[in-house]
Amino acid sequence: MKIENNKNWKPNLHFFKEGHWINDPNGLVYYQNEYHLFYQMNPDDIVWGNMHWGHAVSSDGLHWTHCPIALFAEPDGLGYIFSGGGVVDQRNTSGFQEGDITPVVLSFTHHDKDAVQRQSLAYSSDGLKTFHKYEGNPIIDNPGLKDFRDPKIIWVDNLNQWVMTVVAGQCAQFYSSSDLKEWNYLSKFGEGFGCHDGVWECPDLFPLICADTGETKWVLLISINPGGFNGGSAMQYFIGDFVDGVFSCEDKQTRWLDYGTDFYAAISFDNIDLANKKRRVIAWMSNWHYANETPSSSYRSAMTLPRDIELVEIDNQYQLKMSLIPAFEELRQGILDEWNYEQAGMYKKISSPYECHLSINKKEIKDEALIIEFSNESDEVLPIKFDVKNSKVIFDRQELNWNEKDFGRTIIAPIFWKDDMLNIQIVVDNCAIELFINDGLTSMTNLIFPDQAFSKILIKSKKFDRIEVCDHSLQKVW
Ligand code: FRU
Repeated sequence: MKIENNKNWKPNLHFFKEGHWINDPNGLVYYQNEYHLFYQMNPDDIVWGNMHWGHAVSSDGLHWTHCPIALFAEPDGLGYIFSGGGVVDQRNTSGFQEGDITPVVLSFTHHDKDAVQRQSLAYSSDGLKTFHKYEGNPIIDNPGLKDFRDPKIIWVDNLNQWVMTVVAGQCAQFYSSSDLKEWNYLSKFGEGFGCHDGVWECPDLFPLICADTGETKWVLLISINPGGFNGGSAMQYFIGDFVDGVFSCEDKQTRWLDYGTDFYAAISFDNIDLANKKRRVIAWMSNWHYANETPSSSYRSAMTLPRDIELVEIDNQYQLKMSLIPAFEELRQGILDEWNYEQAGMYKKISSPYECHLSINKKEIKDEALIIEFSNESDEVLPIKFDVKNSKVIFDRQELNWNEKDFGRTIIAPIFWKDDMLNIQIVVDNCAIELFINDGLTSMTNLIFPDQAFSKILIKSKKFDRIEVCDHSLQKVW
């Protein structure tokens, strides 16, 4: 018998909007010590449609206050408001400044009734309280492409120009501008690189300095749907150079940003000073394959926790890693439990939201796998298996009761090593698990819809001598 979950899988940590459908984060800016999250939303329903930009604000990136809708669709005009970015126009290049309030400029795609997509602008001249669509919209007309969207803008010092990245079918196009209004085509990137099993969406281009080598590289994030590593939607990235308006990349390997099924359309915040050593992002926590059908009945979809992306060098190759933002630690409510645990097979009680850190020398596990198994009173079991020998993690959703649209499947990711230690961080919220392995060299974000919240965790392995575990209960943000 199905036991009803009276919480309806509402997250306690992750951003969502009661009564509404949401998807991609949009226009992420840090402005006067506050994070602004705009996002794709349907004002009328909990399925995708009638896209507007919702808006929320936060002083720490974790506790959010909902704000009025920022951008309304114009169904009879240029169309619905699809995804894009935002920039703080410090030098008033756009001329949108009023008085001494620095303007913020939002770039987005207008998607009209005939599904024609064009790039447009909106701005706020009163510190993100009210928003105006630019009267010169669209700023870039459709060049005859079905998929032409998701403009993300960045200031590029060595060009002394703004650069917009936009997706065009299965490649990214770059444009430049000095005033955010007039744009000139620069170049495109994509053919022969990465995965092309779906449409490219939501690009983001930015520089990062690698702490290991001191070198600056340019990173291009691309969401792809379908064609993800574990099916449906996922994000790939490219590490290269951006010289004279041309992005080039020598690395022909397809690289995935998060290996879970539910990390999509991440873009980074403009105007956070992280000295180009990190880039702060939020992703939509769902997958187009089932996003419209997930069983939550009063809202649909949430955002991931904010994360910092860093560039690292492993085995002479560059790759990205992701970790939760430092402010996340303030949600920890003391240490629940800390053990040096010498016997596998012990159950522990947990209650969501919850965080667990485990650390074990991989030599202890030898040829066995380490299994962390969540379960509940409805006899649902969710094992996460760390197969050290084959450097693989397997997240198994097969035994969960909600199993529409191929949701109940195993989700697999490689484990990357810095040394012999296997370090695991798991954040459990009602409807999601965010997993970080070895300092975020692998991350995996997966939705879960158990009939009841997981209340037990079991650590299994045939034999090991010593594992260190530290649990925290987490402060609810909602
Ligand atoms: C990505 C996406 C974008 C588009 C938006 C529409 O999830 O498909 O490409 O702008 O969602 O809601």
